Amino acid sequence: MPSAEARTDARAQAGDGRNAPIGVFDSGLGGLSVLRAIRTRLPAEDLLYAADAARVPYGSRSAGEIRERALVLAEFLVGQGAKALVIACNTATAVAADALRERFPVPVVAMEPAIKPAVASTRTGVVGVLATEGTLSSARFAALLEQYAGSVRVVTQPCPGLVAAVEAGETDGARIRGLLEEYLQPLEAAGADTVILGCTHYPFLVPALRSMLGPEVILVETGAAVARQLERRLAGHGLLRDPDGHAGSECFWTTGDAAVGGPVLARLWGGEPRLCAIPEPGA
Ligand code: DGL
Repeated sequence: MPSAEARTDARAQAGDGRNAPIGVFDSGLGGLSVLRAIRTRLPAEDLLYAADAARVPYGSRSAGEIRERALVLAEFLVGQGAKALVIACNTATAVAADALRERFPVPVVAMEPAIKPAVASTRTGVVGVLATEGTLSSARFAALLEQYAGSVRVVTQPCPGLVAAVEAGETDGARIRGLLEEYLQPLEAAGADTVILGCTHYPFLVPALRSMLGPEVILVETGAAVARQLERRLAGHGLLRDPDGHAGSECFWTTGDAAVGGPVLARLWGGEPRLCAIPEPGA
C-alpha cells in the first residue's frame, strides 16, 4: 500500500500531465484555423501556438528543410511543457510527421487533405484539391490518392501567393479574388462539386471562396477532424484535462517579427492576443 505522500505525488504528477498545455505549430498563422477548432472542442485546455513566420511559406521549400524546421518548433513546444503536439500544417505533415513521432515521446497529431470524406461526398465524381506544391508533390499525398480516390477524379491545384496574402492579413479583395479565379478555373472546368482546402491558411479565404463558387459546392476543411482526433489521443493517454471550470488559455509564439505578426494575429484570431518571439538558440 503506497503512503499517502506517495499517492499525493502520483496524483500531482498525473494532474501535471493532464494540466500541461498542447503544442500546435504551422509555418505561419494559417494553423490558427486548426487552433480555433481545438479551442471550440477542448475549451479547458491551455494551448501553445508556434508560427515559423521567419520561414513561411513552407510550400516551396525542400522536404529536408521543412523537416528540420518542424523538429526545431516541436523541440521548442515540448521544452515549454507540451503534453501533445499538433502539426497544424499539411505541408509539414507530409514530410515531417514520421520524424516527429520518432523523436518525441508525446502524442503527435498530424493532418492531411481530406480525400476520404470528399470522395464520399461528391455527386459529380470530381473532387478538387487546393494545397501547396509541397503537399501535392509529396509521397504521402500520392499514397492518400492511391488509398481513397477510387474511381473519383481528383483535380489538384497548387496556389502560390495565397499563404503570403493570409500572412499579411489579406483574406479578400481584388488581388485575392484574381488568384482564386485562376486556381478555381481548372476545378470548375472539370466539374468538381467538392473542393478540399488542403492548406490550413485557406479556411481564412472561405467567405471569398464561397461567394465565388456559390452555395452548391462543398468546401471540405480538416480542423474539426484534427480536434476530434486530438481529443481521442489525449483521452487514450489519460491526458485530457478535467473540465473543472478552468478556462483554457492561449499563448502565441513566432520566429518572425512579433511587432509585424501581432496585428495580423489579432485580426485572424480576434481579441488582443500577445505574440512573443521564440528566442534564437544561444540568445
Ligand atoms: N499552412 C500550411 C499547410 O497547411 C503551409 C503553408 C505554407 O507555408 O506554404 O500546408
